[in-house]
Amino acid sequence: MRKIAISLSKGGVGKSTVSVSIAHGLALKKHRVLLVDTDDQGQDAFLLGVKPPKGLAEVLSDDLPAKDAIFLARPNLWILAGGKALSAAKRDIGRKDYGAEQTLADALKPIEDQFDFIIIDTSPAWDTLTINTLFYASEVLTPVSLEALTINSLAEFVNRLESVKKFNKSLDHAYILPTFHDGRVKKSAEILNQLKKHFSDKLCEPIKYSVRISESAGFGQTIFEYAPNSPGAKDYQKVIERILNDGKKK
Ligand SMILES: Nc1ncnc2c1ncn2[C@@H]1O[C@H](COP(=O)(O)OP(=O)(O)O)[C@@H](O)[C@H]1O
Ligand SMILES: [Mg+2]
Repeated sequence: MRKIAISLSKGGVGKSTVSVSIAHGLALKKHRVLLVDTDDQGQDAFLLGVKPPKGLAEVLSDDLPAKDAIFLARPNLWILAGGKALSAAKRDIGRKDYGAEQTLADALKPIEDQFDFIIIDTSPAWDTLTINTLFYASEVLTPVSLEALTINSLAEFVNRLESVKKFNKSLDHAYILPTFHDGRVKKSAEILNQLKKHFSDKLCEPIKYSVRISESAGFGQTIFEYAPNSPGAKDYQKVIERILNDGKKK
């Protein structure tokens, strides 16, 4: 079982889109996938066009077993939904005397073996749930939009990850995934080159800027449903193949 956090402390870089697309792509390849949304915006359920009655907030605040909160969104794809109620859950975690960083791990441990992949979407903030996610995950995939400000956030995020690694020694910052790539934009190419120099083998082939991807969000469909033959779907397919190939080495 692989636990992949999709994380960067910055909004609008494509974290939720990447989380949902990768989770669904893996499920389409017959892997059993749990998508966990730790963001209080709760966008993953929206992107999948589902309204789960319960979610992560009930698990963390009301001690609802995770098995009773997961929701089958597609064949082989379950979601543990995020949403507004997570704000209160974060406060509850903050009040714990000890073990606060392990709260998410404790909640998911009882069900984790049912899945081949647990994909965890994070909020744009370096908050309790992001830290909990990084204490629990075995791998991190960081989506980056090819803009100077994002590269700034990436440098800071890498530093923070180092501090988490003191506690979660097996945590591997495995993938940097450029999103919104536009080959016509000169700056985009420059930043991509910088990333190549700095992250070499961690750098994945970019996801292109795609109108189809942004449209699919409004229909509650993933790119594999909305436009399965589009360049965006093909880009995502490549990332999924890479993740699966790496799994064979492990
Ligand atoms: N490759 C892409 N091309 C065009 N639009 C995209 C692409 N990826 C994501 N988007 C859109 O960009 C916006 C931000 O993406 P989102 O996944 O919500 O980012 P985050 O979770 O990091 O805040 C959304 O409206 C989404 O539909
Ligand atoms: Mg998001």
